[in-house]
Amino acid sequence: MTIAVLPDMPADAGELSVWPASTRPLPHGGLSVGGVSLTEIAERFGTPVYVLDEGEVRGRCRTYRDAFPDADVLYAAKAFLSRAMVRWVQAEGLGLDVCSAGELELAVTTGFPPERIVLHGNAKSPHDLEAALRLGVGRIVIDSPSEIARIAAAVGPGGRQKVMVRVVPGVSAGGHDKIRTGTEDQKFGLSLTDGGAQHVVARILGQPRLELTGLHCHIGSQISEVKPYLVALRRMIGLMARIRDTHGVVLPELDMGGGHGIAYRPGEPALDLTALARRMRTELVDGCAAAGLPVPRLAVEPGRAVVGPAGVALYRVLAVKHTGENVFVAVDGGMSDNPRPALYGVRYAPRLVGRHSTAGPRTATVVGRHCEAGDILASDVPLPGDIRPGDLLAVPVAGAYQLSMASGYNLVGRPAVVAVHEDTARLLVRRETLEDHRRRDIGA
Ligand code: LLP
Repeated sequence: MTIAVLPDMPADAGELSVWPASTRPLPHGGLSVGGVSLTEIAERFGTPVYVLDEGEVRGRCRTYRDAFPDADVLYAAKAFLSRAMVRWVQAEGLGLDVCSAGELELAVTTGFPPERIVLHGNAKSPHDLEAALRLGVGRIVIDSPSEIARIAAAVGPGGRQKVMVRVVPGVSAGGHDKIRTGTEDQKFGLSLTDGGAQHVVARILGQPRLELTGLHCHIGSQISEVKPYLVALRRMIGLMARIRDTHGVVLPELDMGGGHGIAYRPGEPALDLTALARRMRTELVDGCAAAGLPVPRLAVEPGRAVVGPAGVALYRVLAVKHTGENVFVAVDGGMSDNPRPALYGVRYAPRLVGRHSTAGPRTATVVGRHCEAGDILASDVPLPGDIRPGDLLAVPVAGAYQLSMASGYNLVGRPAVVAVHEDTARLLVRRETLEDHRRRDIGA
């Protein structure tokens, strides 16, 4: 399709700063991403629809590879997974972090090399472990003592599985209490301070069916500072030195997890990846030298920062209600496709697309269509005062933890996912239909 881009359109570069780099203004208030008009996507595929900019995803993978040339970069599949995503990540040279048999099977059946996959989870089911061993997953990250015997039994005589140990380094970081995982008041990992991690390490070293390749930690998510990573890194090196002293074993790998923060609205801070990579490398090299350890192979596990800014959610306005001082703009999606505002109080910056409005801005609350007062997508956002049913709203930075956390609430059905790249749009994941619900409910 051909698109007339206005090169000297009034600059709203600031407003578009959190949008995919390929975003361009079009005449009459339109916007294109990946060379495709968002209005045309909404018309062709219906709404709500999630648009993923393939070039943005791939570009972000390359940014990671360039920033961390000596490390393994494992994309955290929980942020968003589809077969196309698996292929893009693989083509860009990343590994994968998965946390269920479902994510693992999708990746491997799409052709992703299992040895480049790490399996996480604080409570791995028998099915997760069976799939991991059957498919030949690269590493299993042990999160509790009972897993040692379970994995060893599943491996069987003569077999050997590479494992890591998830450690809680005692560092508090993250955008919300629910996504802070670096301290001992939460369910993940084994304590560095009470001897829990050391104890599990000792038991794994005594189990011939398991090969301990290294330590892992993930301190939290949506972190915008480098400092907590450096503190965690220092403590992990300290533990590696103690393991060497106690057992005479030098672990070759260190996985520092993900959590790299991004801006959801213009002006919000994002983690500086180049600074993170440089300072982590320095800390690692210096810390290991001081401890007399060889430098282990580093791994990082970004999810959000790879896919979040590559996604745009498109909704159709269904109703506009003026209640007292409030303007409620109700759209055809909501907490079933994006539970993040309700869960973490996250703020988004939606905007009108596809119509040029001369009306002044009014503060509005964008709400979903679900049967709950808490079904709010964005509160206190400026939208044109003449916003009306039929208008199209676009929410940027919608690529991570929205569809992957989507639910079947009210049987509304999960939205379609469309990829845009080099002026073309293609359907990746079709919309969930009533027929899908009918099939699952066997009617007994
Ligand atoms: N590695 C491990 C072991 C993790 O648990 C996670 C995320 C990541 C890597 C990737 O973190 P990221 O780079 O994406 O921040 N639903 C929440 C986020 C939960 C994160 C869970 N673990 C949200 O919507 O903000």
